[in-house]
Amino acid sequence: MELKSNEINNKLFEVLPDYEIDMLFKKTINEKKNYLTSIYFWGKEKKLLEITSLYLTKNKEVLFIINDKSIYEKLEENYRDFIANASHELRTPLTSMQILLDLFSERKINSEEIHKEFFPHLRREIERMSKLVNNLLNLSRLEAGVVEVNIQDILLIDIVERVLDSLNPLIKKKNLKLNLNISSSLILKADPQHLETILFNLLENAVKYTPEKGKIEVSAIESSEEIIILLRDTGIGISEKDLPYIFDRFYRVDRARSSEDGFSSGLGLSIVKKLVEKHKWRIEVESKVNQGTIFKIFIPKRKEGERDA
Ligand SMILES: Nc1ncnc2c1ncn2[C@@H]1O[C@H](COP(=O)(O)OP(=O)(O)O)[C@@H](O)[C@H]1O
Ligand SMILES: [Mg+2]
Repeated sequence: MELKSNEINNKLFEVLPDYEIDMLFKKTINEKKNYLTSIYFWGKEKKLLEITSLYLTKNKEVLFIINDKSIYEKLEENYRDFIANASHELRTPLTSMQILLDLFSERKINSEEIHKEFFPHLRREIERMSKLVNNLLNLSRLEAGVVEVNIQDILLIDIVERVLDSLNPLIKKKNLKLNLNISSSLILKADPQHLETILFNLLENAVKYTPEKGKIEVSAIESSEEIIILLRDTGIGISEKDLPYIFDRFYRVDRARSSEDGFSSGLGLSIVKKLVEKHKWRIEVESKVNQGTIFKIFIPKRKEGERDA
């Protein structure tokens, strides 16, 4: 909080117009005691202030030491949300596994069912959980800032093809049309593993959220300033109301629908966003419900001698 020089001789209440702060001041002066307290101050925005109020006997003055704790409060809130969401997400597969094991131990399924249904089901739940735990670990390492970015010259087409290969079963199953417009000589400066994760998460979404016989396009547009990677699908789209939140961790537009084509945790795009930022790139999205979605990654070309990442 900044005080203007002409406020120095003003009354306390004029500078900090807050009833609680005023009371604290009066209490300190009248009772000649020191206090440590926290106060919510409503200025332009809500702030959590930790105030140490000291009575200085010599000149009968009060000294306020004000510590703005708002940032810590926000971090703590963020952390609490994260734990609550993560535990909630982990509970779903765990409950499933527990039910399965109960059926098994109560001998309510015969040996044929065990092999045909019990084991595959259990395997799916375990896969679900490992994916979730992996995503959680990756995201928390990214947020803690302990993930390294290893920039190299890479052929974009190699990475895109690798990602599309791994999604091929689902692309085939849904009969999706693929359109690839990337020059086979286009070289990028990027961390190959991170770029693969970015493209996998975006293309997995494109495949997941595009109905049968839809189209998916992957293009790279190069200018003298930058390279733009463009991913377009003709899928279900994202409404205006949801669009601002899709990069938030655990955010899913429709929990029921998103689990149709495999597992969904709402962590994919938050990992994408963090990795894009790690490269100092930019990501943009535009979407129309029932028409499709376009993600664009803007990659500035580095000038000679400029430092990586
Ligand atoms: N290409 C897309 N088309 C439609 N919706 C999308 C697309 N990409 C992301 N979304 C929406 O954004 C949400 C968050 O995406 P993401 O973080 O990858 O989580 P997840 O895929 O695990 O649900 C998804 O649940 C989905 O609702
Ligand atoms: Mg996803």
